This record gives sequence, C-alpha cells and structure tokens, in this order.
Amino acid sequence: MLRTHTCGELSLKDLGMEVAICGWITRKREFGPILFLIVSDRYGMTQVVVNDASLVEKAKKFSIEDVVLVKGQVIDRKENRTDKYPTGEIEVDAGSLDVLNSSRPMPYDHNKEASDTVKMKYRYLDIRKSLIRENLIARSKITGLVRCCLEKSGFIEIETPVLNKSTPEGARDFLVPSRIWKGSFYALPQSPQVFKQLLMVAGMDRYYQIVKCFRDEDFRSDRQPEFTQIDIEMSFVEEDDVMNEAENMIKKVFEGMKKDVVLPEKFPRISYDEAMERFGTDAPDTRYGMELIALDDIFKKSSFKAFADAANDSSKTVKGVVVENKAKEFSRNIIKKMEVAVQGDGAKGLAFIKKIDSSLESPLLKFFNEKELAGLSEIIPENGVLFIVADSRPIALRSMGNFRKRMANELKLVDKDVVAPLWVVEFPAFELDEEEDRWIATHHPFTDFDIDGLKDDPAKIRSRAYDMVINGHEVGGGSIRIHDVEKQKKVFSILGISEDEAEEKFGFLLESLQFGAPPHGGIAFGLDRLVMVLLGIDAIRDVIAFPKTTSASCLMSSAPSMVKKEQLEELGIKLTGKKEE
Ligand code: AMO
Ligand code: AMP
Repeated sequence: MLRTHTCGELSLKDLGMEVAICGWITRKREFGPILFLIVSDRYGMTQVVVNDASLVEKAKKFSIEDVVLVKGQVIDRKENRTDKYPTGEIEVDAGSLDVLNSSRPMPYDHNKEASDTVKMKYRYLDIRKSLIRENLIARSKITGLVRCCLEKSGFIEIETPVLNKSTPEGARDFLVPSRIWKGSFYALPQSPQVFKQLLMVAGMDRYYQIVKCFRDEDFRSDRQPEFTQIDIEMSFVEEDDVMNEAENMIKKVFEGMKKDVVLPEKFPRISYDEAMERFGTDAPDTRYGMELIALDDIFKKSSFKAFADAANDSSKTVKGVVVENKAKEFSRNIIKKMEVAVQGDGAKGLAFIKKIDSSLESPLLKFFNEKELAGLSEIIPENGVLFIVADSRPIALRSMGNFRKRMANELKLVDKDVVAPLWVVEFPAFELDEEEDRWIATHHPFTDFDIDGLKDDPAKIRSRAYDMVINGHEVGGGSIRIHDVEKQKKVFSILGISEDEAEEKFGFLLESLQFGAPPHGGIAFGLDRLVMVLLGIDAIRDVIAFPKTTSASCLMSSAPSMVKKEQLEELGIKLTGKKEE
C-alpha cells in the first residue's frame, strides 16, 4: 500500500502521526516562503503544508491534477482551523513529496460551464471532478441495499444469457452477427423476461438479477440504449404478493438512503383510466395539484364549434387545467408561447378564460351562453386562469398532461422534499397500433388477463399488470404471467403472430408451459431511474458512469465505429451503405 490514510480521514485524533497520503493536487498556494497544497481523492481533501525550502522548490513545479504521494506528520492548524471540510482542523507537514504521475492541463475548467461534448469525451475527469462521483457512490449503496433486501427475502440471483433470440418488449433489438452461423444474429436482451419465466418452470421459485438490458429506441432524459434492471420473478403468487414484495424493497432502499423521508404505509393504487383522466399520463406526479378537469358536460351545447364537437364525440374530449393566482400575470404573449408548446403535442389550440374581479375574461366569451358561463365561473377561482384543449382523447390528455407538468416546473410547485409513490393498475391488455392497424400488447405478450373479456372488444380487456411510479417516473413495471399454453397461443393470435411464427420465435417457451409451469409473476425496476428519483436528479446519464449520448454514441471511445473489412468478411456481412475501412 502506498498510503496509510485517504485524503478524507485524518483528524485531531491523529496529531503527531507520521502518515502517507496519495491524491490529485487540486490547489496550490504560495504563502511567502511556504507553500500549501490541497490533495484530493474520492474520500475528501487534505491540506499539505510545505515548509522545507528544497521541497518548496520541488512543489512549485507541480501542476494541478498531478497525482502525488505525500509523507509527513499530522499537525494542528490551530487558528487556521476550518469547518468547511472534514479534515479542516489538521494539515500534513510534508517530509517528502513525490509525483506518481503528472497530468496534462485539464481539457476544460470544471469550475466553469463546459460543453457536454468535452465532458463526455473526458468522462473520467468529469467523474473525478464533479458530483457524478457522489452519484456513483450512492448508486452502489442502493444496489447493495436491494441485494441485501432480496437475499433476506429468499430471492436468489441467477444470470441469464446476453446473446439471445429476440424478446418482444416492444423496442427494436440490438443485433449481434454470428461468425459460426453466417447470416444468423443474436439479439441482446431487451429484458430477461422469457428466461425468468423459464426459471419459474425450473422450480427456482424466487429469482432476481441486477442485469443490463438493451433497447434500440429513441432516447430521452430518462432513457438509455443500455440500462440496468432489478429483475424479479416469483412462483405461486398473485398481484398483491409481487406488489407487497416490491413495496417492501423500495421502502428498505429509501430507509437506507433517505432517513428523513416518510413513505406511505401502503402505496396508493390508481387505475390506468383514472390516471389518464386526472393527470393525462400513466406515470402521474402527485406531488402537486392542477389536475385535469373534464369540461365535456359544460360544452355539449356550445356555439364554439371546436368545443361542442369534442364534447359530443366519444373519441374526443375537452380538458382543462386551472392555474391559480396568475390571471393578472399571464399576458397574451406568455399564453401564446404556452399555446405553441401545447401544439407541439399535436393539440390544435389552447383556449384560456381568466377570472379578474369576479368577472370572466376571454376572447371566446362571446361564444358562451349563460349556463356555460355559470359552469366556468364555478370552476375558475378569483385571479385564476382556466386553460382548455379540445381534441381527440389521446391528444387532449397528453397535451394537457404535459402542460400540467410544465406549469408545475415553471411555477416551482413541486415540493422536492416529498416522495410520492403509487401503483398504476388495470392497464388495457391490448392497444391498437393505428399505423400498422393491428393489436399490440400494452405490457408484453406474456401478461395475464381475464380470458372471458376476449369475447368483447380487445380494447376493453384489462390486464394483470402494474407499474410503480415515483414522482412522475415509471420506476418499475410487471405483471402476473400466463402459465397456460392455450391462453398464450390465443394471445399470439390476437397480436397477429401466426402459429408458425409463434412456434419459431417462442416454441421453447410454449413447450415449457406444458411441463407443469407454475402460476407466476414478477416485476422489473429500472435501476438507473430509481437512482435518479432517489437522488432527485433529472438526467439519467448523471447516474451512469459511462453513458451514451442522445444519439447513442460514446464520445470517449467513439463507439459505435466501423470495423475492418476482414472482420465483416469473417461474419459474411457486406455493407451496402457506409464504406468498410
Ligand atoms: P418494462 O419494459 O416496463 O418491463 O421495463 C421495466 C423498467 O425498466 C425501466 N426502463 C428503462 N430505463 C432506462 N432506459 C430505458 N430505455 C428503459 N426502458 C425501461 C423502466 C421500466 O419501468 N420484462 C418486463 C418486466 C416484467 O414484466 O417483469 C420489462 O422489461 O423503469
Ligand atoms: P379559432 O376559432 O380557430 O380562431 O380559435 C380561437 C381560439 O380558440 C384560439 O385561441 C385557439 O387557440 C383556440 N382554439 C381553437 N381550437 C381549439 C381547440 N381544439 N382546443 C382548444 N382551443 C382551441
């Protein structure tokens, strides 16, 4: 060991001790004939005082971020003690100083705003210098708490393959060409879904795995092409068993990380339909109000055509959101900008009605009769503004849901100290993919549901799926699975997967269901999202050591990159687009 202590642990109790510390020089200050260095590492920082003239000359040549070994005695800083950092009462009086490795000048100044591009290129320096380091330490602690809790509850971790046949989680697969089987491809797992179900057939009863998943989809602030799941599956269970186990785990993690946060004894449950109606999203943030208001009844007979049309058509709706205390503040210009944002979600327009000095104000007022005005007046508080979108149901819900979220952020209505977990249940089992005009599974095709419903409209069937949402983020989702082979085949047929295709893609799963598959169910949490929520961070890449950019590349290693012609030949691949190197 080169060192006796880290840079974060020396204190007055170590006075007089001869120590050796290693770290990076983060500050250098000359003070007359003496020189001070701040030496830092992951654990903290320690001041080193250099008194010896020849050592001072040596230290003068050191550069910031050189990595050094300092040997010396721990002394009291006396009147210069500081409580700004934990080692602030002592310093190390240097007896020897050695540069273990020098550093080139930093490619960017971490104290100033640097571009994301340069920070991603030098990610290891960003980790060394920024809060990302703390996020990674917290992430490791969270993973530890998860493992500890699950192991205590009798779950065992089992690894599943990465080179797979594709699983239908809904995103595009990342493919890996096979050298031995030219023309054939493995798919990287979108999740270990099928394997964990096979482990239930294998009698393993309680499985978990902290596992990388890969999805080739468009990226957002809470999505990465490769991300980590806490994947869980259990046998002989129903919804409540899985949800209780999951709640217990989340509570243990919060207890371990955020002692002062109190989570509800039981997480509230809300149906998918209710979540959509009240919040315009299936991942509602309930830390603030401004819920969506159904206005269809008020406008059924309106002479404003856009509203009346939507109010009388079951595939459309009129939705409103009341923003309090802003009638005088929100100018036409401000509202115009809000309208543009809402139109970005596909809405045709954003109407508004203000209440100032007990009377309503709006360019649309002339269209409304007495009854409508009375209804509106009841909804809008003094100095409040009612915003309205009338559109197809999905557009009205999505645009007003996003409007609510934007308003809450802009008006700083989100109480960051509150943690609001909930379950969303009773999801539709199937959704119509309008572009392709076929049914798709809302969760995944292995999710159980009430088979009698099949006689009716597939859109009305509710599945046995559940999502855990915390502060507006879907942190986990799962379901009770189908364990009956005939029912599973039936689902494939609803989804337009032919018997041959089902056999080709999932023959091994269908076969396994015929060998005494137990009733089973499970859930998977997005670990990255859970860490984000726990640490109150908005960007998923701040909780990942080496994340990809939004265009799915790594600026540090330049992945993805072209490969040699010989490598492609070996795989039997000929490129038709970009040239081979
Ligand atoms: P699902 O697809 O809902 O379910 O994924 C489970 C959880 O994983 C997280 N997640 C992501 N996190 C970051 N980047 C992504 N691209 C990404 N995609 C998903 C979310 C999500 O809730 N096999 C099923 C689980 C099951 O049924 O047990 C599955 O993968 O937090
Ligand atoms: P128009 O009659 O199209 O000129 O619209 C008058 C006002 O009503 C404008 O401010 C529009 O933004 C708003 N508006 C029009 N259509 C809708 C709609 N479908 N939902 C909400 N507001 C609308």
